Amino acid sequence: MSALSPQLEQLYASFSSLNMEGGWHRRFPALWPQPRENFLPHTWHYADVRPILDRAGDLVDTEFAERRNLTMFNPVEGNIYSTVRTIVAAYQMVKPGEVARAHRHTPNALRMILEGRGTYTVVDGKEVEMRPGDVLLTPNWCWHAHENKGAENCYWMDFLDVPLVHLLEPMFYEPHPDGLEQQVERLDEAPIAFRFEETCAALADAQPSATHGMLKATTLGPAQLATLALDVIEIEPGQAGLPIRETANAIYAVMRGSGELTIGGTASEWRFGDTVAVPAWREHSLRAGPDGAMLLKVSDRTLMQKLGWYRHQAADGQ
Ligand SMILES: [Fe+2]
Repeated sequence: MSALSPQLEQLYASFSSLNMEGGWHRRFPALWPQPRENFLPHTWHYADVRPILDRAGDLVDTEFAERRNLTMFNPVEGNIYSTVRTIVAAYQMVKPGEVARAHRHTPNALRMILEGRGTYTVVDGKEVEMRPGDVLLTPNWCWHAHENKGAENCYWMDFLDVPLVHLLEPMFYEPHPDGLEQQVERLDEAPIAFRFEETCAALADAQPSATHGMLKATTLGPAQLATLALDVIEIEPGQAGLPIRETANAIYAVMRGSGELTIGGTASEWRFGDTVAVPAWREHSLRAGPDGAMLLKVSDRTLMQKLGWYRHQAADGQ
């Protein structure tokens, strides 16, 4: 590299001292031709996590922990929180008799129940039971608390757009002044609760979806979260989906069955309760094992579509 002329050196010094950079000689590019492979694909196995949740249940009191959960951070260097760029996923367990106190925050949240009956969530004064396979929403700024009134541990997965809120800055959080909401109405059905049986019924009528590699899929809706799309994909025994890639960042959570995800030429196996991170613009495909599978896909497609940044490609380039 040739030395700068004294005049250019003087020019660069004159703006670098003002916290400015010349666009013609950036140390790092600001634009690139297509999404970079920043975050990494990764799989977390429920079989590894469940015994740890049980041990945490013995050692960590919900009086001490606002939420007794284990967040899954993407293994990309420098990251200690996000599962993919915009979304964090976590496993949580609540023991019989325990209460997770009420709070509210601007990040949108949802949970998918893995095991356990008799646990209730209270969202803005509406109390609904959380049953295995159910998906329950906590939209932006809704009060929410959880209480296990049953006799068995309740295990679930949480998904929140906290990393997006970190990026954009509009974070607000508030614990409920009374610990729990005082006026509570119990409901069997609520707009924030997507019951497993209803999801199965919707899938029975669903058509193969190009968005999901020609696998059958249903979208949980109408959408109540401003950022996150919730799709449930059903794969027949042994069936394989076509490879797709999209600008949405996605996390797959296994609701039923087993199978594998192939991404970048590498296949990773998953089964009930596992979590698979698929960052933006990574071509990937799903295949079910001998018993078929059902997966919840949580992605920022809703946000990408609103911003005009959603792009999707199937294997044939469509
Ligand atoms: Fe929360």
